[in-house]
Amino acid sequence: MSQPTDAAWDATRYDHQHAYITRYGLEVVELLSPRTGERVLDVGCGTGHLTAEIAARGAEVTGIDASAEMIAEARRHHPGLAFEVADAASYRTDRPFDAVFSSAALHWMKPPEAVAAAIGGALRPGGRLVAEMGGRGNVLAFRTAIAAARAAAGLPGDPERHIWFFPGVEEYTELLARHGLAVTEAALFDRPTPIDGGRDGLRNWLEMFAGSFFADVDAETRPRIYEDVERRLEPERFRDGAWNADYVRLRFTAVRAA
Ligand code: BEZ
Repeated sequence: MSQPTDAAWDATRYDHQHAYITRYGLEVVELLSPRTGERVLDVGCGTGHLTAEIAARGAEVTGIDASAEMIAEARRHHPGLAFEVADAASYRTDRPFDAVFSSAALHWMKPPEAVAAAIGGALRPGGRLVAEMGGRGNVLAFRTAIAAARAAAGLPGDPERHIWFFPGVEEYTELLARHGLAVTEAALFDRPTPIDGGRDGLRNWLEMFAGSFFADVDAETRPRIYEDVERRLEPERFRDGAWNADYVRLRFTAVRAA
């Protein structure tokens, strides 16, 4: 998980309030199907729980993340594993990996061309990439409500701020191909996801993940804008005591040309 430009991750809070991210990531670990002894790079490893799952299946795994806070937490939880603070876009290794894995992280990493080039360079010929990320249309309801609340508060500028990269199947397939990675399977699918934290869940999500949208808003005004976002989303996205994020996932496997 790469770090937003204007806010450090609160790694403990990330773990406590967003456990569903690890839960869903386990499906991607299953898809990776790590084999005993193979070398795996976990790109955007966050607090390292999926890295540990990969290691538990017998692989020799290295987790990288741009956030020093996340890596510190990963090392604290999993002291026996290898973690490095590293930006995926400039990552280089002289010992290419058998597989690269990534879950819920690539949409934070920019520029995407540099990230794809680095992943291609980190794989041995014939090595595989198995990943899931936010795909085209991801959190559109959330983004729309944030934009509307900003506009209603008279805040100027482009609310999208290009903080995320949510590609479709074709776009990402072409991008990977430019870096020697041939997609073998890809799917874009909806995954409406209840957010932990009950009524406070959306506010926690906004604070943790959407800080860049509010970097120009002072601390006194923010709660008022959060309330407006909640009011706009409530009819469609608050159900049975939980906020539902309109996540769209892009899941794929690719192979580096031999
Ligand atoms: C995602 O996993 O799709 C995501 C999480 C936080 C912010 C934006 C996207």
